[in-house]
Amino acid sequence: MERNEEFPQSALSQLETAPAGAAPPVRVVEMAMGNAEGERARLMQGLFRPRATIEPKYFYDPRGCALYERICTLPEYYLPGAERRIFAQHREAILRELPHAPQWIDLGCGDGRKSPDWVRMLKARRYVGVDIAKEALSATVRRAIRDYGDTEALGIVCDFSRSLDLRAVIAEMADRPAVFFYPGSSIGNFPEPDAIALLRSVRDHLTPAGRLFLGVDLVKDRDVLETAYADPQGVTAAFNRNVLAVVNRIVDADFVADRWEHRAVFDAQAARIEMRLVARESQLVRIGDRRRGFARGDSILTEYSHKYTVEGFGTLLASAGFARVRAWTDDRRWYAVFVAGV
Ligand code: AVJ
Repeated sequence: MERNEEFPQSALSQLETAPAGAAPPVRVVEMAMGNAEGERARLMQGLFRPRATIEPKYFYDPRGCALYERICTLPEYYLPGAERRIFAQHREAILRELPHAPQWIDLGCGDGRKSPDWVRMLKARRYVGVDIAKEALSATVRRAIRDYGDTEALGIVCDFSRSLDLRAVIAEMADRPAVFFYPGSSIGNFPEPDAIALLRSVRDHLTPAGRLFLGVDLVKDRDVLETAYADPQGVTAAFNRNVLAVVNRIVDADFVADRWEHRAVFDAQAARIEMRLVARESQLVRIGDRRRGFARGDSILTEYSHKYTVEGFGTLLASAGFARVRAWTDDRRWYAVFVAGV
């Protein structure tokens, strides 16, 4: 939580001009993303740790975003389908738990494809896309402006895995409660203390009418989980390896993606999928002005994807300070959707 302590007021009025053509200007605010140098240092630190790590947020360069969108269409990756079915089956009940005409905060919006039905049904006053991937976000906000009619739309570029402070933005429309929409089980990326911290910071933005509305993947059979994260077409493998290209650019390294194998294992004890890149051969990698050797079989941890029980996630919400919690699951109990308030 070291960053964004001072909200950049001046940034609030910052306009991004659309590329040449007729498109109107799009309001995309870049929150102080800390210092790029500090982020680079953290990434380096992770790479030189005895057990090397790369944080999952680095997956999402434009190619990574496109690969993730493809993952979401794979039959093995059941999460989006399960979530959609819950949304469809329990639409009315969910709507009753959400405030009318809210500010709709789409956390980690990506292409923003999960929001339109809700934005329209609730007659949201405002659509606020929040994402770390600036290019995807600008495109999403542009589409929102085009498609949402009277709903104002803007984007916030921010790394909410570090800190989330949208108070100044929300205060611009102080009479409208906020709904924080966090679908896709993205909360699963965070180890428990970080998950609680993020949930708590969302909670601290809410007035009594405000809500958190999120999707959470549930613990299930190992085979189902591991196949979801290692699909036979190799899309997830490509997604995982792509992070090396991102790292190469950010810290000027020379990782060769082909020398790394994708692995996804469910750790039942920790209730999480652990995604790694495993060295296919021993190699010396230049990382900035340093070098690191990897033996064959050495691995880099690239992602945790935590799985919950409905009860367990309810407890997590409670420890983050949420009081009123409702949950819905699909018929197989593979996935859950929560609406929580203060
Ligand atoms: C975007 C974090 C929800 O953990 O399921 C998909 C990312 N990684 N396949 C997940 C992911 C491999 C995804 N989240």
